[in-house]
Amino acid sequence: MHRLKLTSCLIFFLFICLPHPLVQAVEPPDGYTHDEAMRLGEQMYRNGILPSGNPMQALVMGDIPFDGRMFTCDDCHQRSGLGTEEGSVITWPTNGKMLLLPRKRTGAFRQPTSDAEKQNARRTLPPYFQVEDERPPYDERSLANALRVGKDSGGRSLDPIMPKYRLSNSSMAILTYYLMHLSVDFAPGVDDEVLHFATVIAGDVPEEKKTAMLSVLQTHIDNHNSQGRHESRRAASGPFFKSEAHQAYRKLKLHVWELTGTEETWHEQLEGYYRDQPVFALLGGISEGPWQKIHGFSEKNRIPCILPITDQPVLSDTDWYTLYFSKGVSLEGETAAKYVRAGLSMKGTIMARQIYRRGNTKAAALAEGFSTAWKSIAGQEVQQLVLGEDDELSDQALNDLLDSPEPVVLLAWLDSTDKEAFKILGRHGGRAAMVFASSTMLNNDFSAIPDALKENLLVTYPHSLPSEDQKSRFAVEQWLRARKIPAGDFDIQAKMYFLGWMLSGGIKSMRSEFYRDYFLEGFDMMIDQDYAIAVYPRLTFGPGQRYSSKGCYIVRLSSGSNPELIPVSDWVIY
Ligand code: HEC
Repeated sequence: MHRLKLTSCLIFFLFICLPHPLVQAVEPPDGYTHDEAMRLGEQMYRNGILPSGNPMQALVMGDIPFDGRMFTCDDCHQRSGLGTEEGSVITWPTNGKMLLLPRKRTGAFRQPTSDAEKQNARRTLPPYFQVEDERPPYDERSLANALRVGKDSGGRSLDPIMPKYRLSNSSMAILTYYLMHLSVDFAPGVDDEVLHFATVIAGDVPEEKKTAMLSVLQTHIDNHNSQGRHESRRAASGPFFKSEAHQAYRKLKLHVWELTGTEETWHEQLEGYYRDQPVFALLGGISEGPWQKIHGFSEKNRIPCILPITDQPVLSDTDWYTLYFSKGVSLEGETAAKYVRAGLSMKGTIMARQIYRRGNTKAAALAEGFSTAWKSIAGQEVQQLVLGEDDELSDQALNDLLDSPEPVVLLAWLDSTDKEAFKILGRHGGRAAMVFASSTMLNNDFSAIPDALKENLLVTYPHSLPSEDQKSRFAVEQWLRARKIPAGDFDIQAKMYFLGWMLSGGIKSMRSEFYRDYFLEGFDMMIDQDYAIAVYPRLTFGPGQRYSSKGCYIVRLSSGSNPELIPVSDWVIY
């Protein structure tokens, strides 16, 4: 018994704690440098493309041929290659470290043995998962066999969901090399004791917003660190079989990176901060303008950035590293377009016309969001009136804009300092079929809107309605009070409260595998949230999803200087 424990301790030590000699020893295939082999291997793993540039060919479910681009390795085994048992996605790790370890029967996929287990959905997995999964370590030959023939290192036939690939020897060598180096060295920003994070304050951000963001985020970090004392003790003295979870414990440290000067210099400033203190990931952060420079830095260095506060995220279907609360103002533009389509019969033509100010990047992003959606919905360009920074809107210019034999939808992407313009809109807005404004542009200050305009004014509102978020709002307020954080910008505090809540799950699910892709995969696997978040009705997560809030209301304003918001749409408009 004693010896057994010692031996397993030794094996554990050799494989988990020390660098992995086998993995490190594999040389790149002949004629390739490490970087080339990694790039080509990544292309196979993530895109299903062979080094020749052709798609990988495979058979799935026995004999159905398919093009490897349709399902890629990372679709099933995750980018990190560390697999997952979360949610509906269940796969083995495919990184070298785990393939080179023998596997005991896990019991994870066994037949249910009792009625209670049968009723538990997680246990009663489909038959193809109910396998005996014990196997010896892989070597180069058995790995090739698994990928080509679908037999694991113990000779068991793999489930037919795992495709069988047609791979030449040289492609196989590259893929093998890639798998052996996938998630092998911990990411920068983590040592034996500390997991380093940074939060970015980009450009001029009003002091109270900065404080609202930092105070809540720092409190989460402090909470984690004060709970950790017990964890460190357990890690030192706990039983071997529990040590992985406890070994995972790291203190968290939050570095504040403030960016100053022009945006063109931000990338260099970020690189400088990162050289001085590598961090594992970026948490929160705040900008009054576009997040583009920070986004670019994250993509380039493959550093996750979790839930920054910005109305101007980068919109991309393929970028990976920044997880945003929402598509920001662009989503408001898109929602307005969908609402017009849903509300009006498309038989007649509708003319869409927008007003915004030059130099206002937020308004430009809104206008772009509307135009793009409108083009795809109505197949039409949107006519624009772009005011100079100091120009006043004139009655004449507005009348010209509204002049059309067809009904006009007017989008007034102006902010609450544009009082004169809203007055003029109040005088002539009745000529438009609908007038839109954005609550984000107005910063939820509706005092500039004259009652005369309210009758046909619609406002995009991408947050929970004040009437609907009272319970979760109360929970956040209680939490802030208990931690003696003064009430500040509630929107920001609630978002950072939520980030802290998610972060503890993200850190736990990473166990002691400190890889950035795996950390992000932890967020991808989180269940959708409507409890811990106060300012959105719900947030959804999923593999590769990078904009969590999918909805936006359209509201009307009641009359008076402190108007009520009256919803005229659902949260999501299809
Ligand atoms: C459609 C989903 C899917 C795709 C795509 C896929 N796999 Fe798998 N893979 C699986 C499943 C499911 C298993 C587990 C089968 C079993 O244990 O019976 C598996 C098993 C494996 C194993 C054996 C693991 C072990 O511990 O025995 C390896 C290695 C592997 N896959 C590598 C890859 C590589 C490399 C690619 C891409 C070239 C790939 N897989 C693509 C679903 C997939």
